[in-house]
Amino acid sequence: MTLAPLPPLGTGTGTGIGPGSVWPASAVEEPHGRLLVGGVALDEIAESHGTPVYVLDEDEVRRRCRAYRKAFPEAEVHYAAKAFLCRALARWVEEEGLGLDVCSAGELELAVTAGFPPERILLHGNAKSPQDLRAALRLGVGRIVIDGPAEIARIAAAVGPHERQRVMLRVTPGIGAGGHPKVRTGDDGQKFGLSLRDGHAQHAVARVLDQPRLELTGLHCHLGSQITEVKPYLVAVRRLVGLMARTRDAHGVVLRELDLGGGHGIAYRPGDPALDVAGLARRVRAALVDSCASAGLPVPRLLVEPGRAVVGPAGVAVYRVLAVKATAERVFVAVDGGMSDNPRPALYGVRYAPRLIGRRSGADQRRTTVVGRHCEAGDVLAEGVPLPADVRPGDLLALPVAGAYQLSMASTYNLVGRPPVVAVAAGGSRLLVRRETLADLRARDVGR
Ligand code: LLP
Repeated sequence: MTLAPLPPLGTGTGTGIGPGSVWPASAVEEPHGRLLVGGVALDEIAESHGTPVYVLDEDEVRRRCRAYRKAFPEAEVHYAAKAFLCRALARWVEEEGLGLDVCSAGELELAVTAGFPPERILLHGNAKSPQDLRAALRLGVGRIVIDGPAEIARIAAAVGPHERQRVMLRVTPGIGAGGHPKVRTGDDGQKFGLSLRDGHAQHAVARVLDQPRLELTGLHCHLGSQITEVKPYLVAVRRLVGLMARTRDAHGVVLRELDLGGGHGIAYRPGDPALDVAGLARRVRAALVDSCASAGLPVPRLLVEPGRAVVGPAGVAVYRVLAVKATAERVFVAVDGGMSDNPRPALYGVRYAPRLIGRRSGADQRRTTVVGRHCEAGDVLAEGVPLPADVRPGDLLALPVAGAYQLSMASTYNLVGRPPVVAVAAGGSRLLVRRETLADLRARDVGR
């Protein structure tokens, strides 16, 4: 199988349907309006698996993993599983040579039972449960990222008498960045990490170094998500190298690793800004070399943790239209999913750019509001998007950039089961995660 040339990461320049596209590079539109992804017609997937259905382009995921490794040849790239995880995805990521960032015993166990090497896994979490920590130590995760002072003694006490656990410290560098206030984590005043500004981070370094069962490999920060500028990362490098220098001065210890987290922004709609990942890699490397030279420190190994930019653009959600309603103000097209499979519009006010698939319409385009089926006015997937005026119940709409933080955040609101995930590659498709049925929902309901 030959792969198409690498698409620039984050810019979503799908080759199939024109410049500025946000579709997977494999997307091709046929004359009669069929849309193929990974060589498979989306309407065929809708027919055989029902709707809503999430389609994941395996080559697009793999290509993005490879592009990251190429951009960061000296770094460890850890895929942030919270964006979306299933066993097949864990295997693709593993085969492409990435590590994994997990934040629960659930993500950890799923990955390890799928064959992911535990030493290539990092455990995060601002409030790790006893079960999370037990699983991490039992399975032997590579590193645990300490998020608060109380965790230091707790993790040390859980480590066996003749063992040492590698840990990192999550530092809050005092940098506000990210696409929405709810996903900005680099500044003080939010729940993650140890503040650089008020000295908590420096104090925690000393306490970890005092624990013989903990090996502090380095510092971590995660500034936020959907960041489209390189600059915040460069400021973070300088601030974290500053703390590394103070650690060397105070304790004579040179930390070997620096983890800059993820947060790399992608385009959801044509024309949206996106982070230039290759540029990020180049400029972070230069800032790291420069800051370390000024501080007289060896350059630490860099780690990055992209989630969204690996899997987001590789996913497409396919919905069926259930109802069309024209009011005095708007035309509403309602589909058979919505905020239960994709809570992002309701949470962050984001909007998508769906299109009609499966048939070609000759009708004029009109401004349309695409809404879900759930019982809230905020269940809106797209606002003012051009769709043919003859869109009717039974039609299919495909929504691009659906691979990240949709199914992983899905609920069963209104007792609507969660959709299946179908992988496409080289003209073939296979079911990765089956649809959640009414029987599944009923089976959990054990009271009377
Ligand atoms: N590392 C850490 C420690 C994180 O907390 C996160 C994301 C990542 C890496 C990966 O960030 P990414 O590259 O995917 O932006 N639900 C929100 C996004 C929440 C991000 C949470 N942490 C959304 O749908 O936009």
